[in-house]
Amino acid sequence: MTEFHLLLIGYGNVAQRFVSLLGEQRAQLASRYGIGTRVIGIATRREGPRYVDSSVVSAPRRTKGGASPAKTEHYRDSTLAFIRDACVRDRAAARAGRLVVVETTTLDIARGEPAIGHVRAALAGGAHVVTANKGPAAFAYRSLARAAEKANRRFLFEGAVMDGIPIFNLVRETLPAVKILGFRGVVNSTTNFILTAMEQGQPFDQALARMQAAGIAEADASLDVDGWDAAAKTAALANVLLGASLTPHSVAREGISEATGQRAMAARAAGRRVKLVAQAVRTGRRVTARVAPEELPADDLLAGVEGQQNAILLETDLLEEIAIVQRGGSLTQTAYALLSDLITIARDIKRDTSLTWRAAARRR
Ligand SMILES: NC(=O)c1ccc[n+]([C@@H]2O[C@H](COP(=O)([O-])OP(=O)(O)OC[C@H]3O[C@@H](n4cnc5c(N)ncnc54)[C@H](OP(=O)(O)O)[C@@H]3O)[C@@H](O)[C@H]2O)c1
Repeated sequence: MTEFHLLLIGYGNVAQRFVSLLGEQRAQLASRYGIGTRVIGIATRREGPRYVDSSVVSAPRRTKGGASPAKTEHYRDSTLAFIRDACVRDRAAARAGRLVVVETTTLDIARGEPAIGHVRAALAGGAHVVTANKGPAAFAYRSLARAAEKANRRFLFEGAVMDGIPIFNLVRETLPAVKILGFRGVVNSTTNFILTAMEQGQPFDQALARMQAAGIAEADASLDVDGWDAAAKTAALANVLLGASLTPHSVAREGISEATGQRAMAARAAGRRVKLVAQAVRTGRRVTARVAPEELPADDLLAGVEGQQNAILLETDLLEEIAIVQRGGSLTQTAYALLSDLITIARDIKRDTSLTWRAAARRR
């Protein structure tokens, strides 16, 4: 049985659903994968970092006032210092590869910070990292992957694109020897919902308000409608699948507006669809990427992606095109992505790579 010690950096919608999912899946995780979990600390922006009493086996739910009912020990420094401190304090778990930092802080579209710093500190301290935050893979994939390799720890981020639908896992685990040449996709649920609604004559603001009420639009809606969220996902996909070194700022970007709605209505009347298409392609040594509304013929797979659905088409050398369609997205799916990343780490431990791990642990 592997008991993972979890340090939750960010404890909002995704992290709270992750913790409740761990509870729901507890028996299965133990019997099928030999996994147990224990939350050892939590950090949020407003409440700051705190260690959770070691007898607590799952994270406490927040009470109405935000206070935790569990016994906690507040840590008076920054989140970054908290991660470093936790890695030292729980060095036995870190050495054994059982300490995992679960990074679910808010996306920062300017630089990907402080999430990148959190990931770096965790890896340097001997912890694995699982995250649903797009920032680290979108801004710093290459250097973080190198840091993970050097530390002999995992940096996993399946939840960063299309929630729990496997894309990074799919390519890493099931497509050996296949080269990804490029991709095209509809990767932002809010803009696709708005475009679908506007085609039917609904006003832009009304469709956006529905996505905000459903908790699907980002807190700052401009991240969705201006194409930033799609650009961050495009950069992450291009960095990981195409070996690029992009950031969201190097993705050519055009968002959607009320005017795109007029275009979408006219296109629909002519049997075509307007979609916010994210794409990247490798040409020689160069990878170019863009996000923009495009008018697609009806027989394009992306033209049939309705409402909140997402889809990606991977262009490969040996298997031609592979399509992945996400029919529905939810917090459970994003939480599942974190869970699947945790199982990947448990499988590593089981497979035992252990000779390398023990050697690395002795060196630390
Ligand atoms: N929601 C989804 O369906 C979904 C899907 C895929 C990916 N994601 C990504 O997953 C991440 C989490 O999403 P969410 O919906 O859970 O967001 P959320 O509800 O806004 O939670 C974010 C959490 O991060 C905390 N935080 C922010 N900066 C921090 C810092 N410097 N140190 C410590 N804690 C900090 C916040 O604390 P306060 O509450 O005190 O501000 C909050 O607890 C985001 O990067 C998002 O883009 C979300």
